[in-house]
Amino acid sequence: MKIVSVEFVMSTLHAPEADADALAEIAVSGRSNVGKSSLLNTLFARRSLAQVSGTPGKTQTLNYYLVNEGFHLVDLPGYGFAKAPLEKRNRWGVMMQRYLRHCRQLVGVVQLVDVRHEPSREDREMVSWLREEKMPFCLVATKCDKLGPTRVKEAVRQIVRALELPATQATVAFSSETGAGKTELLAWIARTLESATGR
Ligand code: GTP
Ligand code: MG
Repeated sequence: MKIVSVEFVMSTLHAPEADADALAEIAVSGRSNVGKSSLLNTLFARRSLAQVSGTPGKTQTLNYYLVNEGFHLVDLPGYGFAKAPLEKRNRWGVMMQRYLRHCRQLVGVVQLVDVRHEPSREDREMVSWLREEKMPFCLVATKCDKLGPTRVKEAVRQIVRALELPATQATVAFSSETGAGKTELLAWIARTLESATGR
């Protein structure tokens, strides 16, 4: 798949009501600071359409991007940002639960983990939830530029093991710095949209 057009649609605290002709959406999930917004900019080949920051907790709303005038990519607020005030964390929980449980047009999730770290409790919870819901997801190990290629392979294997995922799990080793994994991830997105919409 090639991204030929992308347009910022909206930033919202509430997932919009799905109407019959709502476009399919794919969400980008992961802990705060793992690189969700950077990954989107890399896919879009745009430097700063999605806001990136060195400060965790930058994205605190659902941010919708219309891609190729055919589907939405959604930048989700990160979890596991311990420094956020409790009230904000609760708001995150409520917003995310509502979104993930009730978003009927959600057809897949790009689940990010940092290639250098053991998956956190929240990563595990998120992955178990995705499996329980039978939600198609691609496990993306980010920041691969921080490790050598051999270590990346081993690290991804370890993460898959730690998350108790089957050998058939879709995985992509990704870097927003080098663009590694971009083609593979776009191919996964295209396949997921195709099998969901039958187009
Ligand atoms: P929240 O919005 O807080 O949930 O964070 P996020 O997941 O959107 O992360 P963001 O894209 O804002 O990136 C966080 C930091 O990690 C920034 O300083 C990025 O430059 C850096 N970063 C993201 N992806 C990569 C990567 O692939 N390689 C390297 N070296 N740095 C990265
Ligand atoms: Mg972000």
